[in-house]
Amino acid sequence: MKNIVIIATGGTIAGSGIASSYKAGQIDVNEILATIPRINELASIRLIDFCQKDSNDITEKDWLGLRSLCYALGCDKEVDGIVITHGTDSFEETAYFLNLTLDIDKPVVMTGAMRPATATSADGPMNLYEAVALACRPKAKGAGVLAVFADTIYSGRDITKTNSLKTNAFDMGDVGMLGYMRDDKVYMQNLPYRLHTYQSEFARAEFDVLPEAGIYYVHTDCDPQLLAWMLDRYDGVVIAGSGSGNYPKAIQEVIENYEGRAKIVRASRLLEGSVFESDVFDPLHKTIPAYRLSPHKARILLMLALAQGYEQADLDRVFELY
Ligand code: SIN
Repeated sequence: MKNIVIIATGGTIAGSGIASSYKAGQIDVNEILATIPRINELASIRLIDFCQKDSNDITEKDWLGLRSLCYALGCDKEVDGIVITHGTDSFEETAYFLNLTLDIDKPVVMTGAMRPATATSADGPMNLYEAVALACRPKAKGAGVLAVFADTIYSGRDITKTNSLKTNAFDMGDVGMLGYMRDDKVYMQNLPYRLHTYQSEFARAEFDVLPEAGIYYVHTDCDPQLLAWMLDRYDGVVIAGSGSGNYPKAIQEVIENYEGRAKIVRASRLLEGSVFESDVFDPLHKTIPAYRLSPHKARILLMLALAQGYEQADLDRVFELY
């Protein structure tokens, strides 16, 4: 039998209340495990209570702590796989951070829930059961950080929360899912192509405090002075542009006149498609295109790359690679 460690961080999966009104991160995951006795036929399970947070309160310090814990478990010969329970709101940020920074090829599967543990027909127990089943499988080894929600397997790079209400709250847009689950059966369809975990140049890097990066949201009449302030204040700024990372002329002027050291990434506020270099919006090539990364994921890659002291050429390279 496989040895699986579940790392609990809180979220709605450990929430208490009813679907329309609850507090995240209230219930011990042992109580949830007790409602799924069949899980003990899949694996021998050890639970580590990392934290009990609403995922909106997860911090960079938590990311770094989770990274160290996963690394230690990855080195432990007694551990075959890791499952992380996490709130859904910032789920994709933690998933992408770990996908870029874990020097580990053992299965790492994240899951959570949209209905609290005490709600009628809570979705957490089934998600947790399927996550443990996936973490037991050789197919999950070396595949990067994976996630399971509503019988669907996602990659830590591309998973995106797209629905604030339904139990089927996640999607990977035009990339498509990696596979699906039926109880403990795993049906993989695709594998992530972008570099991840042990393949990543950030996997063996030391991080203490990450550089600071913020996101500037583009909208009609958006304030150029706010962007100028952010460029002064942060080490890097991600523009959540319209369309394929576009913005008004007033924003283009701020970018073109900016001579400081902050790096600027152009992402899109849209869910699908990609941002490329643009001779129209950035003829001086002062920005780095984020391609398919959402603004909040582009921010994570930017912080990791800035922590390495990367300049424009390497920033261009990592945004093409990861
Ligand atoms: C949270 O992200 O912790 C609350 C929301 C959820 O888990 O669905």
